[in-house]
Amino acid sequence: MKKIVLGNWKSLGDTASNAVLLAALAAHPPAAGVEVGVCVPFPFLTQARAVLEGTAIGWGAQNVSPFGAGAYTGEVHAGMLAEFGCRYALVGHSERRQLFAETDERIADKIDRLLAANVRPVVCVGETLAEREAGGWRETLGRQVAALAARLGPEKLSRAWFAYEPVWAIGTGRVAAPADIAEAHAFLRERLMALGVPAEEVVILYGGSVKADNAQGVFAVPGCDGALVGAASRVVEEFIAIVAAAG
Ligand code: G3P
Repeated sequence: MKKIVLGNWKSLGDTASNAVLLAALAAHPPAAGVEVGVCVPFPFLTQARAVLEGTAIGWGAQNVSPFGAGAYTGEVHAGMLAEFGCRYALVGHSERRQLFAETDERIADKIDRLLAANVRPVVCVGETLAEREAGGWRETLGRQVAALAARLGPEKLSRAWFAYEPVWAIGTGRVAAPADIAEAHAFLRERLMALGVPAEEVVILYGGSVKADNAQGVFAVPGCDGALVGAASRVVEEFIAIVAAAG
């Protein structure tokens, strides 16, 4: 099974620093069996495409409109992402759930739009620290995937990738312990299969403080298909080292 390493630049970057990062990625093709991509802010899709097109490195977005083309001021719809060559788009990132009140229903609509445009949805799920400490992480993950299944059905859900991103590990330097990652991935896998997703279609990445010095341990976790990397994806040496650890 290949490993997948996606970078989430979040709301960071400028054309000068992007140029250095993108050139370094283009100059370091991943090992066979490793898929690498970067999810960049919308304004940088042209730059990412210009540098990465023709390389093994994919690019994508971090969000998408739940609507199609039309009178939706400020929105970027899935067809536009496809036009910019996006291979992926993140949906349901905890920062968007928290800061922009994204609901499971809206996330399902976004997934639907991306699938229709042949852009791979990368669906972020994960519990808060309070939910983890109260022992409710299974309820949170179960609720998140069940809500998507209710609106999309198993066929569409099987075409999405998932990223388990415990909120308490994002940006904190507190990477989840391998045992916790394994347990959460096993639970998610079991839930998705119970909702009708074939076992061989389930892809689950881990995200939350993945760095060069812990990446090997994350990739070694049974049932972990790769990583969704935040801050470290903006540091050339770090991200290249994480990609190398996936090989
Ligand atoms: O989407 C990945 C991101 O939420 C993880 O951020 O900085 O903890 O790697 P970071």
